[in-house]
Amino acid sequence: MKAHSFLPIALAALAMMSCAPKEAAPAAEIQEQKAPRMEWFSQAKLGIFIHWGIYSRGDWSESWPLYNSRVSPEDYYAQQADFTAASYDPEEWVRLIKESGAKYTVITTKHHDGVALWDTQAGALSTVKTCAAGRDVLTPFVDAVRAAGDLKLGLYYSLIDWSRDDYPFMHRDQPAVYDIEKDPEKWQHFCDFNFAQMRELNDTYKPDLYWFDGDWDCTSEQWRAPELLAMVRETNPDVVVNSRIRGNGDYATPELGVPVTKPADPWWETCMTINDSWGFRKIDTEYKSEMTILRMLVNCMSLGGNLLLDIGPRADGTIPEEEVSMLKTVGRWVNKHAEAVYPTRAGIPDGHVQGYTTLNQAGDVLYVYLPYTPNESIEVKGLKTHIKNVRVVGTDRTLDWQLYNDIDWSEVPGVYYINIPEDVLDEHITVLALELEGPLTLYRGSGQVISYNL
Ligand code: GLC
Repeated sequence: MKAHSFLPIALAALAMMSCAPKEAAPAAEIQEQKAPRMEWFSQAKLGIFIHWGIYSRGDWSESWPLYNSRVSPEDYYAQQADFTAASYDPEEWVRLIKESGAKYTVITTKHHDGVALWDTQAGALSTVKTCAAGRDVLTPFVDAVRAAGDLKLGLYYSLIDWSRDDYPFMHRDQPAVYDIEKDPEKWQHFCDFNFAQMRELNDTYKPDLYWFDGDWDCTSEQWRAPELLAMVRETNPDVVVNSRIRGNGDYATPELGVPVTKPADPWWETCMTINDSWGFRKIDTEYKSEMTILRMLVNCMSLGGNLLLDIGPRADGTIPEEEVSMLKTVGRWVNKHAEAVYPTRAGIPDGHVQGYTTLNQAGDVLYVYLPYTPNESIEVKGLKTHIKNVRVVGTDRTLDWQLYNDIDWSEVPGVYYINIPEDVLDEHITVLALELEGPLTLYRGSGQVISYNL
């Protein structure tokens, strides 16, 4: 279902094969072409995802009950009568997003259920025509984002649409309504609809990012994906596109799990819920702790990626208090440690220090993130470049350290012990800036063997 995510790995594997230099070049070239438009994305680190739709009444999860036949279409779409947006305050949403320290936001303009948040002329269902709200709720949000100035706008768009009879894959346990290959006209009719909605979004909002979803049902060719992207890029050439368009996008989107090792794709983002749901659900009280979310953010940063953290406002537009509080907490931490967030890049491999790491762009500051309270000191080993100063980020404190066993005849660098007094600890994750004498080089060996005595 997510076969596209293997593409970067496959390309990287090709690049490593000495017999295939011709195949390696295009991958590098493509990445070079993408690099300028990915610049802001790679510095953003945190985005806020918003799942808002008729499912935000809170009884069922977003769209999927339709496909899983958990609810009748009549009951599911009856939720339109409860999507009021009565207390919707888009400026307040944007204030909160900004307070979280996020540099971009992605909103569901249309989920798989097909209900558009804008006044679409291409489709039948929208918050304007078929919901209690009776109005376009997307435009005021876009206006608030644009007014904020330094917040990038991402639009989520589901390629799948379970509200239409020209969409063939409607139920998990039932065969396709028709065969795309045997009824190409019907399928083209659906694709034309997708193109028409995308044209509306593109012309009206000129977003900075498209977040496609649901590409798994069809191939790139069937979605006419290259053509769709060429169309939006004609008037919006620098728009960033996520991976869920059958490998035609710019960056990978691991979902609900922070990668264990650094992904092969140079740009990626983990999308993550704060509780267990994308949209608001009354029964879901499984909120993750502040530490958990902050660890996930730092973990993503340390592997060179972003965290796209989801909120699910209610159908009336209010945001659950737990989510408001989470965004504020994340914001407190991010703002305090801003120098160790936005301008950083992936850190060093595990084993050198117990904690997450990132590097500044010049490579001469190693940031160490401590999601725990150290006893006395932390140990840092394998740095061939000497430390010249240790600061506690977000404070005016510097720390003492000892360097042991820095032996001139040994290739193995000495080991640092940095003293961590309790009064410098952050209530969540303490960040140290290890200022180095030059760009960091690492010792990755297993110790210098003096002699073998077998
Ligand atoms: C999945 C689901 C969807 C959700 C999305 C967010 O692909 O289909 O419900 O919106 O992930 O990442």
